[in-house]
Amino acid sequence: MTEVVPVSIRRATNNDWALIWPIVSAVIATGDTYSLAPESTEQAAHAYWMAPGNQTYVAFLDKEIVGTYVLRANQQGLGSHVANGSYMVKPGRYGHGIGAALGEHSLAAARAAGFRAMQFNAVVSTNMRAVALWQRLGFVIVGTVPKAFRHRQRGLVDFHVMHRFL
Ligand SMILES: CC(C)(COP(=O)(O)OP(=O)(O)OC[C@H]1O[C@@H](n2cnc3c(N)ncnc32)[C@H](O)[C@@H]1OP(=O)(O)O)[C@@H](O)C(=O)NCCC(=O)NCCS
Repeated sequence: MTEVVPVSIRRATNNDWALIWPIVSAVIATGDTYSLAPESTEQAAHAYWMAPGNQTYVAFLDKEIVGTYVLRANQQGLGSHVANGSYMVKPGRYGHGIGAALGEHSLAAARAAGFRAMQFNAVVSTNMRAVALWQRLGFVIVGTVPKAFRHRQRGLVDFHVMHRFL
């Protein structure tokens, strides 16, 4: 990693969406990390990222939003003690510890919200930066779903399910 930048992280409001959408749009456009379709409309992305029941957070570097994550229950009802998270760093800002800061913040937020574990359902197996980051934060690959993701460049690749207790 090069220089680690100090970010401040807070809950997002709907007013932040105008600065979150360019990040979501740019991340999904590459079609190599998220199931959300690259051609998703802003409205569809808003419904996914800012859904009622989501805890959405933004990371600031000075006044610029450089990352965002969503914390939610992974399942309803009897599975609702396990959290799920989704993370996006602004392209061009990768490799400066922002993803790690989001991840660590989300683990603390999940603990504070009473979750007992965190599970990622769909980590693209070729997304080495993400896999390595989550492993460093204590997640283990508990299973791999073969050919579950249509990678824009590589075709059918696997999803890892990653998990850690809190
Ligand atoms: C994945 C993502 C959140 C990581 O954010 P980031 O700010 O780049 O992450 P960090 O800088 O905190 O850490 C990245 C780590 O991956 C490592 N890394 C980078 N490229 C790598 C590669 N090709 N292989 C293995 N490790 C790699 C870095 O060295 C760093 O680890 P270190 O701190 O031990 O040096 C960000 O790249 C992103 O938003 N990607 C697009 C969306 C996405 O993939 N979201 C996650 C879906 S599961």
